[in-house]
Amino acid sequence: MKTVVITGSARGLGFEMAKKFRLNNYNVVISDINEDNLKKALETLNGMESEAKVESCKCNVTSSSDLENLISFAKEKFGVIDIWINNAGVNQPERAIWELTEDEINFVLDVDLKGTIMASRLVMQEMEKQKAGAIYNIEGYGSNDATMLGLSIYGTSKRAITYFTEALAKENETRNTGIIIGRLSPGIMITDFLVNAVGDKEKITLSEKTKKVYNILGDYPDVVADFMVKGMINNKKNNAKIEWLTNAKAAWRFMTAGFNKRDMFKALDKGNE
Ligand SMILES: NC(=O)c1ccc[n+]([C@@H]2O[C@H](COP(=O)([O-])OP(=O)(O)OC[C@H]3O[C@@H](n4cnc5c(N)ncnc54)[C@H](O)[C@@H]3O)[C@@H](O)[C@H]2O)c1
Repeated sequence: MKTVVITGSARGLGFEMAKKFRLNNYNVVISDINEDNLKKALETLNGMESEAKVESCKCNVTSSSDLENLISFAKEKFGVIDIWINNAGVNQPERAIWELTEDEINFVLDVDLKGTIMASRLVMQEMEKQKAGAIYNIEGYGSNDATMLGLSIYGTSKRAITYFTEALAKENETRNTGIIIGRLSPGIMITDFLVNAVGDKEKITLSEKTKKVYNILGDYPDVVADFMVKGMINNKKNNAKIEWLTNAKAAWRFMTAGFNKRDMFKALDKGNE
């Protein structure tokens, strides 16, 4: 039985991927900085029918000792880590760069960029010993060079995640490690992430114009998770990119928007009432 470890998996995409892996009989280790949500997520996952097991471990991805602990925890419980997903992420306040505080900038870069780099470094060391495994990092707005007011620091980190993951894949290739490195590109998902900044400390009010675009291009995280998990289970290639919202799909969504009136925010508004 294979094992997957997912950071930031108490809700959103990470949690939905945990569910899909469980349905595919993978042992799952969920982890998050938010212990209350982690507890609830564990209960839900335990209630699902699966031959595999699920464990949870608190982990703040900005702490190397937490990351080391998560790796040891997973190894102790299941012996091997087949897939590790650096999913934990935070949004930034919707302000221009010079209107952000130093702490806000550090917060976003520490979680989104450094968290992924440090985890990848430690997990690579472990997977080299295993001589097998796969690491996936999550792209996001900015990965393809797009810029937008109020997303500059987040976009900087996601652009860097793309570069970092490609570089890691290249180094991995030259060493012939047997490990797979890849990127997941989830497009736009209607999760709490869209309306919360700096780890839920500040609310983001989406403009009607932004909501309109998200209603056309956005999807619920369970739909994206299904696609991503199938992609990871079937992927055998190093430097893979598993992309949900391709340019062709986005163009099709805009072309057909007039026929498909979607109100994707109903579910999110309800959850946050
Ligand atoms: N929602 C989107 O539209 C979207 C689009 C592209 C990429 N992404 C990326 O997908 C990933 C998941 O996003 P989501 O929409 O599910 O977000 P979410 O806010 O629903 O979930 C993120 C999870 O990460 C956890 N987390 C935050 N800081 C952490 C830390 N320091 N250590 C450990 N866990 C921490 C949170 O507690 C939360 O459970 C993120 O990397 C995000 O950047 C999201």
